Amino acid sequence: MFGRVKPLDAILATAEKKSLHRSLGPVQLTLLGVGAIIGTGIFVLTAAAAQKAGPGMMWSFVIAGAICAVAALCYSELASMVPVSGSAYTYSYAVVGELLAWMVGWALILEYAVAASAVSVGWSGYFMGLLKSLTGFELPALLSSGPAWSLSGVDFSHGIINVPAIFVALAVTSLLVIGTKESATFNAILVAIKVAALTMFIVFTLPLMKGEHFMPFAPNGWFGPAGSSGLGIVGAAASIFFAYVGFDAVSTAAEETKNPQRNVPIGLIGSLALCTVFYLLVAAGAIGAVGAQPTATGVQPGSTEFAMQCAALAKQGQVPLVCSNEALAHVLRAVNFSVAGDLIGLAANLALPSVILMMLYGQTRIFFVMARDGLLPEKLATVHPKWKTPHIVTMITGVFVAVAAALLPVGQLADISNSGTLFAFLMVSIAVLILRVRDPKRHRPFRTPLVWVVAPIAIVGCLVLYFNLPVEAMLVLPVWGGLGLIVYFAYGYRKSHIGRGLVEVHEADADAPPQPVPPV
Ligand code: ALA
Repeated sequence: MFGRVKPLDAILATAEKKSLHRSLGPVQLTLLGVGAIIGTGIFVLTAAAAQKAGPGMMWSFVIAGAICAVAALCYSELASMVPVSGSAYTYSYAVVGELLAWMVGWALILEYAVAASAVSVGWSGYFMGLLKSLTGFELPALLSSGPAWSLSGVDFSHGIINVPAIFVALAVTSLLVIGTKESATFNAILVAIKVAALTMFIVFTLPLMKGEHFMPFAPNGWFGPAGSSGLGIVGAAASIFFAYVGFDAVSTAAEETKNPQRNVPIGLIGSLALCTVFYLLVAAGAIGAVGAQPTATGVQPGSTEFAMQCAALAKQGQVPLVCSNEALAHVLRAVNFSVAGDLIGLAANLALPSVILMMLYGQTRIFFVMARDGLLPEKLATVHPKWKTPHIVTMITGVFVAVAAALLPVGQLADISNSGTLFAFLMVSIAVLILRVRDPKRHRPFRTPLVWVVAPIAIVGCLVLYFNLPVEAMLVLPVWGGLGLIVYFAYGYRKSHIGRGLVEVHEADADAPPQPVPPV
């Protein structure tokens, strides 16, 4: 199991078969990163972060961004050495063996599929807001949000099912099934829309900034009141970490990059830094314009108590930032920029589906590679004769994503997604160190600078964020992991191609499904 290591040379043989056209420079890489990163995190989760940390969420953005940056540097070393699909799953297979690779792949399901659900719910909030603003039509709250969850049970009194989220998840799934590709130009337009929307938000809100809206600065302190979990500035950082996920687009483009040793870190750190600056300005604008105090200290967003507090405030005609499902549009409307509010809603409605598409695609690609390795039924990797897409696994994933989006609030989905992502980043940071010791001479197109400092910081950072997630999200990872072990021993262990002595390289196969966004 632990000895079942996929030979790095076999994986690399693939990469050599691919033609390496090195065309990306530092600016294109940075823009690629910004396009992949900006999404539901800043557009929606700003409200949840405010409920957890109040104005102190400004620190949360800095902490989450910094931890992402060190993890990204580790990720890039492996991405440039093992430039094949399957990301962290494939890297782990080559370094720490099949069992842990399976666990990483299994955790990546949380990262990608659950993130797709989170962004679907985020889209739903903005869609309903825009619809209401433009037409006055409002779907009953029970049909536009899922129930509230806690360890003590499920509460359907404020929401039953999120119908718009189901709709967008299934619509994007259908596009992927029939093999829709975004053109590079279309992608660039979406990036421009997102950046323009955030810039507009900053320009409109910063002049309205009031110092008193920043007081009290940290109502829940750094770690939340005693006995709570996932609150305070660090708790908000663990949630807002979601806003930075997606930079792997830069790492995985390493093989198309000119002078990767120099340009990959510029692209990664550059896009993360640029997003951090944007996020801080947006957060400052939102806090400064309307304030960002929690409904009450010690109350988790998405909990029953929180839903009741928001409902009570709404009855009095008050909707604070923390209760809004469309945070940025809400702020602009609250300060009477309703056209700008609609515009930002439109930007989110247009841009978020492409984030869902990237996440769903990433998920199906990982399933595809795992099925090709024999760890999942190979039928899943069947490619449709006409559409040339792995339609079976795409449809199964899409249904799973739609169900989760229908039944869970966006903040909890993002937290669950983060738990999987943090585990994968942790494993990657460990794998980089192992490989430095075990195989120091191997060519590394990109070497993590100061790896013995950077990787341990990444490892500790991932652990700190993980242990500051709300307890429900934290528990999902071991439960999901246990389920993964059962599946592995019931199926993958026996069927694994490596276990059966087959070493094959699939990536260069002509029938591999296409990428949704062609290389720039
Ligand atoms: N970073 C991406 C988002 O915020 C996942 O939507």
